Amino acid sequence: MNKRQTRLFAIASTAIASLVFIGMTIDSHRQFPTLTNAQNITPAVRSGQDVWHKYNCINCHTLFGEGAYYAPDLTKITQHRGEQYLQAYMRDPSQFYDEQRHRRLMPKQNLSEEEIKNLIAFLDWVSKVDNQGWPPRPILVTGASIPGTDMAAAPKEGGEAPPGARPQTGNENPIALGERAFRSATPACNACHSIAPGVNMAGPSLAGVGSRAEKLVSSPDYKGKAKDAMGYIRESITDPSAHIVPGAMYSANGVSFMPNTYGKGLKPEQIDQIAAYLATLK
Ligand code: HEC
Ligand code: HEC
Repeated sequence: MNKRQTRLFAIASTAIASLVFIGMTIDSHRQFPTLTNAQNITPAVRSGQDVWHKYNCINCHTLFGEGAYYAPDLTKITQHRGEQYLQAYMRDPSQFYDEQRHRRLMPKQNLSEEEIKNLIAFLDWVSKVDNQGWPPRPILVTGASIPGTDMAAAPKEGGEAPPGARPQTGNENPIALGERAFRSATPACNACHSIAPGVNMAGPSLAGVGSRAEKLVSSPDYKGKAKDAMGYIRESITDPSAHIVPGAMYSANGVSFMPNTYGKGLKPEQIDQIAAYLATLK
């Protein structure tokens, strides 16, 4: 190629690449209303977005992978956590996390009930946007090596509280207490169970166990005695072999590999609290 041909070649390839780029951009914009379910943007969703901006949630969290990487990505949060959990969490995050153990904490925002309701509507709309698989994996920052677990942070039942830990006040939210008992039971539930979707360890992932249990108890495959989701979870804790999750690595000869000692080791109210917590995982 001589100089003139080289120049022509460069100009032509740039022009073609630009046209393709512009075409794809226009195409993406045309798809936005469908991908974002624009018709579902209710006044509550809009107000929730205003609350999100007002309190600068994005300074710590990400949505669609955008924002700060200090706190977990919330793009799909309403699909992983039920409304009750989110309500209780936003009223007082300190009941769920401990600054000493987690080395970071979400500050209490003193949100009104109205703001919390709208935030949940907004986050729920976000969770239903077809983000075509982006971000490729949930960003989980809760200081653990395995997503959704928190082994390093699990204190043993009856163990020494870390210095400066919040004193137990006795009037705490049962879901928050359940979340804590889940980590502090002996052996810790999160030694075998992640709450991140698809992360199966010695036990199956408990992501979505609330909705799964609800369907299971009324299906013909169910072998136990429970009548509802809470009952199923309680039964799973006190009598793991009553109904066994299918999977070769979970049981042998009809006996679950999950310890059958929790019925004695945990107090009845702790079992209720854990069940209340797990039932919120939708
Ligand atoms: C100063 C930083 C900060 C701000 C601001 C903040 N958060 Fe958080 N948030 C956190 C941290 C840190 C966690 C997780 C604690 C952990 O995992 O150790 C968290 C956790 C959460 C969770 C629970 C996630 C889960 O998986 O259980 C929700 C929901 C949440 N934040 C919502 C919000 C909303 C809504 C706002 C704005 C109103 C907000 N956050 C503002 C730091 C922040
Ligand atoms: C040593 C590992 C281990 C520990 C510790 C453990 N589990 Fe399990 N868990 C399992 C296994 C394996 C299964 C699947 C077999 C079965 O259904 O029992 C299971 C099943 C479950 C199920 C049923 C899940 C479903 O999808 O239907 C629930 C609920 C559950 N465990 C809750 C807990 C709770 C709560 C704790 C702590 C109090 C706990 N587990 C501790 C191993 C464990």
